[in-house]
Amino acid sequence: MHESILAFRKRRYLWLALLVSVVSIAAYWIDDPQEPANGGTVLGYALGTAGALLIVWLAWFGVRKRRYASTMGTVQGWLSAHVYLGLALVLVVLLHTGFQFGYNVHTAAFALMMLVVVSGLFGVYVYLKYPQRLSENRGGVNRSELIDQIEDVDTRSRRIARQLPAEFQELVSSGISRLQFGNSMWARLRARDLSQVLLKRGNDYAVVANPGQEAALDWLADQQSRCRDPAVAALIGELSGLLRNKRRLLKPLIEDFRMQAMLEIWLFVHVPLTAGLLVALLSHILAVFVYW
Ligand code: HEM
Ligand code: HEM
Repeated sequence: MHESILAFRKRRYLWLALLVSVVSIAAYWIDDPQEPANGGTVLGYALGTAGALLIVWLAWFGVRKRRYASTMGTVQGWLSAHVYLGLALVLVVLLHTGFQFGYNVHTAAFALMMLVVVSGLFGVYVYLKYPQRLSENRGGVNRSELIDQIEDVDTRSRRIARQLPAEFQELVSSGISRLQFGNSMWARLRARDLSQVLLKRGNDYAVVANPGQEAALDWLADQQSRCRDPAVAALIGELSGLLRNKRRLLKPLIEDFRMQAMLEIWLFVHVPLTAGLLVALLSHILAVFVYW
């Protein structure tokens, strides 16, 4: 997906956006309205109408994205056009206003539009950066494959623990049931591993924080160093190997959840701001015609 958004079909939408920009600037340059340029001149109305149509079309993208059966071009092409024309919109609207702003509903609409555009830029950054980093970070393995591999490690760990004393079985099964990260959006975003494990210390069991399987691995190393039976020591060593493997698999999984949370939170910003913009824009247009 990366690159292809911006470079779609030889950047045809970049050229279209540049054309829109050049035509708007030329019209603004040539226009001689006999008053300071503003939204109320003939050109002002023309540019305002173009801006409003662009905004409605940009907002329509939310609907378009979900209509996979539509034959009106690919979603990728739409996104490419969305990005470039969304940026050209800023210029069209600036020329519409004649660079005049005040404390009014018109300027509120403009401010909301700028917020949508800036949040859009951040969205493109996330889109371009993350799909790529995701595949680098896992060597091209996807999330469900990672989960399958972790489950496989768990099954093998349980099998080995069954040949060891009860505290090892407790370690493995509590480590699996108390694996915890990403229960909430906030936790996913912070990419914190909140896992715990039950460890036998003396005659008692204690619940211990186990980020990165660290506590479990330390405990196993300690048990192994004290173990006199080479066969048992070998099993403990095997169990440690499996947990290290699990740690290696968990890292990209946690990162994957973090990136997904970023994208979800971003849409939480871009889409409601769009709704706000549409309301403000409608108020702007109504206000203009009421005072006309
Ligand atoms: C059908 C579309 C539009 C029409 C008919 C329209 C009309 C107007 C008019 C008549 C003015 C001059 C108001 C005055 O001088 O008091 C104006 C100013 C302005 N318009 Fe629009 N407009 C449209 C679209 C937009 C859009 C899409 C935006 C931005 C989101 C926008 C933002 C502004 C701003 C910031 C001003 C300057 C306000 C000021 O001078 O304080 N307009 N518009
Ligand atoms: C006023 C201008 C804009 C409006 C009204 C607007 C509106 C929208 C809407 C409604 C969606 C669909 C979100 C969804 O429902 O999933 C969307 C998606 C998106 N927009 Fe904008 N947008 C604007 C400008 C921009 C700009 C300037 C950029 C980039 C520089 C941008 C980047 C994106 C991206 C990357 C998506 C995500 C597409 C996806 O989820 O597949 N937008 N926008």
